[in-house]
Amino acid sequence: MTAWLDRLTPKNIRNLIPYSSARREATRGEVWLNANENPFTRSSGDFPSALNRYPEFQPVALLEAYSRYAGVAQDQLLVTRGIDEGLDLLIRSFCTGGEDQVVYTPPTYGMYRITAETHGVNCMPTPLLADWKIDLPQVIVEAEDSKLVFLCSPNNPTGNLIKKSKVIKILEATRNQALVVLDEAYIEFIPEASYVKLLADYPNLIVLRTLSKAFGLAGLRCGFILASPEIITIIKKVTPPYPIPVPVADLAVAALAEDGIQRMRQEVNLIKVSRDELVEKLKAFSFIQKIYPGVANFVLLRVNDATDLMKSMEMKGVVIRNQSKQILLDNCVRISIGTPEETKSLLEVFQDYEASL
Ligand SMILES: Cc1ncc(COP(=O)(O)O)c(C=O)c1O
Repeated sequence: MTAWLDRLTPKNIRNLIPYSSARREATRGEVWLNANENPFTRSSGDFPSALNRYPEFQPVALLEAYSRYAGVAQDQLLVTRGIDEGLDLLIRSFCTGGEDQVVYTPPTYGMYRITAETHGVNCMPTPLLADWKIDLPQVIVEAEDSKLVFLCSPNNPTGNLIKKSKVIKILEATRNQALVVLDEAYIEFIPEASYVKLLADYPNLIVLRTLSKAFGLAGLRCGFILASPEIITIIKKVTPPYPIPVPVADLAVAALAEDGIQRMRQEVNLIKVSRDELVEKLKAFSFIQKIYPGVANFVLLRVNDATDLMKSMEMKGVVIRNQSKQILLDNCVRISIGTPEETKSLLEVFQDYEASL
């Protein structure tokens, strides 16, 4: 293992010999009697595929499909149960509870902090600055004593991108010393802003992807860690033996076929048009102080009284997200872009609310 990665990896993980599952130990054979499975298959009606056998540790067809889609090699990929599981695996692979620190840049996705703290790992906040810009010098200072730096671009819930030059400065500053984890959950809404190409130049970069957003498969629980083969090998050590259910792998492969990708792109275009139309219409409301349109499938609003608005929305059954508890997000609410009918319902409730003020 490269010396710096060896240093970064906790001793218990470095020395860990991963569980050797029945499925991984034997890959070829005619009669399968090695995994205490039930030999009788159920593959009809409610059970379209045979599920009596354990799945592959990493479904090869899915690795093939995602590597083609993302433009990386298969050994640069790990399939996970969503980005959320990816975060957990990263913390468990590289951090020791009670000793290590990670950095994040709130307001951002809440699970970086929750996951770190669940494992007793200190999560150091370096809040965003005006216009949701990264506090570059501060992130670099904090990164010096950290194992992982969590960045999110496009960021949830602010919707903006992190400038490429800043990401590169962070990658340079942390080279041979910390891992930079770039969450690209929303990248399909602006694919040209992906950092995947930088994987070739920065061995300390990790990119997280998901089928939960643009691909419309949040219920499937399927995500990906993209990193150097060395990093993937370490994370595999702490990954459970059979993480990806057979039906999940099958459906994910279908979503990543050519027509699945085409469908995703069409929906992304519709959602972006709806977002821009919604932003225009929102300008008419006096209770909205500021609109942050962002580049993803949601908009962030600063309103006069978020609690009051949320109460009114709740009564009408239109569910949006109050973000006011997050640092810098007083009186902010986040609206996901729905279907045209759903947007219409939202606007009707907003009109009623405006009239009631
Ligand atoms: C930035 C970001 N990352 C990750 C996730 C979770 O992704 P997954 O469904 O793949 O676990 C979300 C979900 O809201 C998100 O906004």
